Amino acid sequence: MEVVPLCHADEVGALAADLVEDLVRRTPRAVLGLATGSSPLRAYQELIARHRAGRGPSYDEVRAFTLDEYVGLPAGDPRSYRATIAAELTDDLGLPAERVVGPDGDPAGLPSAGERFERQVRDAGGVDLQFLGIGTDGHLAFNEPGSSLSSRTRVKTLTRRTREDNARFFDSVDEVPRHVVTQGLGTILEARHLLLLATGEAKAEAVAAAVEGPVSASCPASVLQLHPRVTVILDAAAASHLRALDYYREVYEGKPAWQRPGA
Ligand code: GLP
Repeated sequence: MEVVPLCHADEVGALAADLVEDLVRRTPRAVLGLATGSSPLRAYQELIARHRAGRGPSYDEVRAFTLDEYVGLPAGDPRSYRATIAAELTDDLGLPAERVVGPDGDPAGLPSAGERFERQVRDAGGVDLQFLGIGTDGHLAFNEPGSSLSSRTRVKTLTRRTREDNARFFDSVDEVPRHVVTQGLGTILEARHLLLLATGEAKAEAVAAAVEGPVSASCPASVLQLHPRVTVILDAAAASHLRALDYYREVYEGKPAWQRPGA
């Protein structure tokens, strides 16, 4: 696992954008795994700004999958993750709707939603670079504590804490759906490169548990320790509980130029 402790959230976004652009330049038909939530927003804004300025790569052949979706929100509801990712990134990069796929949260099709989504990811050849945020309770996508470390895309029930964390996007916590369809931890582990972004003090404890704690279903994000290629990019506050912070800094500062994006 590569842990990159930076100072500011803007630097986190800029480095994540560098990694995406580097991938898309090398692999024009890249498959991106996109996360919603606040954590990747600066990276998305940076990608859009560079694209508008004509400095980004071509996204003409890029495809994308999202991580998770609420159950029961009407299609096109602005709070759905499918609508959110379009508004926050993919529309501005010029990715048409048919090249951006998310789990289907329509209650009518729930029993087969996981399997259908997994098939779509497989047919696309899998995800090259998967954006991830982390919940304050260590959840990854919507895999709450207790999720099987080898779980597949399926329906899950949100914890009260996650619904409270996400209530800011709704009028009240009672409006936050209780159920979701989320990529499983085993599904996420199949992406070729995982990119976890975290900023702010509220994430510090969960980040330390995920990176330095035991691998345990009690902290779903600790499953990242099992993946051969993970990059964790943090601002100073999110990195503040890491025991080996000085070591991570030393490793990153000494990273050879040929291993950096754009090399
Ligand atoms: C949500 C999402 C996750 C996200 C996490 C953190 O519940 N399902 O994909 O990573 O919570 O959200 P944020 O980045 O807004 O802190």
